[in-house]
Formats: sequence, structure tokens, C-alpha cells
Amino acid sequence: MAELLPPTPAETEVERRVRAWAEVQRARGKRVALVTSGGTQVPLEARAVRFLENFSSGRRGAASAERLVQAGYGVCFLHRARSVFPWARALPPYGSSLLDALRVEAGPAPRVTADVDAFPGLVPALQAYRRAKDEDALLPVEFSGLGEYLGLLRAAARALSPLGSSAMFYLAAAVSDFYIPASEMPEHKIQSVDGPLQITMKMVPKMLSPLVKEWAPEAFVISFKLETNPSILVDKARQALEKYRHQVVVANVLDSRRTSVMVVTRDSEMQLSLSDEELTQGVEIEEKIVSHLESRHTAFMEKQPLIRKKVI
Ligand code: PMT
Repeated sequence: MAELLPPTPAETEVERRVRAWAEVQRARGKRVALVTSGGTQVPLEARAVRFLENFSSGRRGAASAERLVQAGYGVCFLHRARSVFPWARALPPYGSSLLDALRVEAGPAPRVTADVDAFPGLVPALQAYRRAKDEDALLPVEFSGLGEYLGLLRAAARALSPLGSSAMFYLAAAVSDFYIPASEMPEHKIQSVDGPLQITMKMVPKMLSPLVKEWAPEAFVISFKLETNPSILVDKARQALEKYRHQVVVANVLDSRRTSVMVVTRDSEMQLSLSDEELTQGVEIEEKIVSHLESRHTAFMEKQPLIRKKVI
């Protein structure tokens, strides 16, 4: 389902948990970012066998969450289950390369050891993860379906609202724009003997609107815009800023999203790109995106002295 229904007990519990965690971050003088990450799953049947999916891997969200933690933010990571996870992405994907790099040391209490050479980047990733964990700087919250995402976004946004302008919303998830209402969904598996499938889907309301107007009206809100046609990208970003009145759109094109983005505000446009040299050195575009947005967030907070005084 994609209509926003009254909060479920699970969403209320998430709101309580995020609020308590955010209070601790605030007491430590930290800013907080809510990072959304990964794609949503939309069922085609009530007892769902088939789903509508999208391409998002969650890498943008995961890499950005790592950078934000490094920059001193507490990060609430609202992510699609089994999508890319901060620091865990240093592990090879499930399969033979993972199994081949692990060894069992036999003995009365067998131990599993890893061949570190087979995991470039794993040691620093594990160290950074451990630091984040010890500092309670990462709060993961998981979703799968679209309805679940919408409810949890609302819960987390309400929980972060008391932080005012020191809360950043970094909406990198690729959220479905279409869904089938529960009342129009077949209960059982759609039968192929009935011939070719025709479905009509309804529009999912954009969550940016209640987020900016109601749930966290003082926060610094960044949405993402993905297009496949570069010629409409910046116009679409501008339209979103005009319509939802939030602060920043990070606009990207599907094929070049790992190397280049446009950061668009109501009065500016800035391209962030990786040079060939940076690419060979393994620099990630998220490093540039986060560093740029962190400065914009600081400037945003400085314009709101009363709220800022309460936080830092
Ligand atoms: O995960 P990766 O493979 O690394 O890819 C990263 C990314 C390309 C998914 C990411 O960089 C990105 O662009 N995410 C936004 C994708 C998108 O299609 O957005 P949109 O144009 O559908 O939506 C624009 C904004 O509105 C988004 O910030 C979204 O969170 C928000 N939205 C969308 C739908 C909806 N019902 N409510 C919303 O608020």
C-alpha cells in the first residue's frame, strides 16, 4: 500500500528509537543526517509473488553515510533490506570469492579467519565501522516495500524534527512513483493462462511535500533527481525546488552517476565530477558530494541563529 495510513506499532517504535538516539547525538553536539538508500519494492499481488523493482543498488546512500559519519554526523540510515550497507561493501559479494578467502582453523573451538589480501579495503572499513558503532554514530533502519518506506520516513522525520536546522535529510533512495492500491490488487498469483498482463498503477504522493511542510519544517533537505536524458535534468531539479521549497537537489544521470552530479539550489548550479586521476586513485564522488553539502548545511544553520544556539 502507498497511502499514508496512521502509524503502525512498528513505526511508532522506530520513531521512539530514532528520537532517543537523536537526543544522544544532540547532547554530544553532533548534527544528524537521515540518509535514505536503495530502491522500493512494489507488489503486484496481495499474496505477493511478483514485484515492481528499480535499479538502485544503495551504493550512493551507503558511501554517503560513511562520509557523513566521518564528517562528524550521527547518521540514521533508512535503507532497503539487502542493499549496499556502509563499510560492509568492502566485503566481496556472496559467492566463491568470499568463500575462498575464508579459512577454518580447526581445534576444540574452531575459528574462521580471513585472507586480508583478498579483501582490499576491508581492514580500514572494519576499523571505521567499529569506531562508528562504539560512538553510536550509525542507526540502521530497514525497509523493503514502498508502504513500509513511506511510514518509516515519516516516523524518522518526526523524530528528528526537534533538532531543527541541525538535521539534514539526504534522500538518495529511488522511491517508486507508482503502486497498485490494495483494493485493486488481485489476492492470488496472477495467472499466465489469462494472457498478456495489463496493469494500471496509481501515483504515489511525493513525500517531500509533507516532509518539508509538516514533519521537519526547519531541517536542511536534499532530494536527489535521477534522469536518463541529461537535457531535462537541471530543469527537473529546478521544478522540484520550486514545488517543494526545500534547499538542494542533487541531480544525476543514470549512466554517469558514479562520476558526476549537479548540485542545484534556487540560485546556483554546481557540477561535481571526478577527474581521471581521482578515478584511478579510487576517489568516490560521494566524498565530493558530502563535503560540498556539509558546507551548505553549515551556511544554512548559520542563517538560523536561534535554532543553532540550541544545538551546537
Ligand atoms: O543506489 P545507487 O545505485 O547508488 O543509485 C543512486 C541513485 C541514482 C538512486 C540516487 O543518486 C538518486 O538519484 N536517487 C533519487 C532517484 C529518483 O528517481 O528520484 P525521483 O525523481 O523519483 O524522486 C525525486 C526525489 O523525491 C527523491 O529524493 C525521492 O526520495 C523523493 N520522492 C520520490 C518519490 C516519492 N513518492 N516521494 C518522494 O519524496
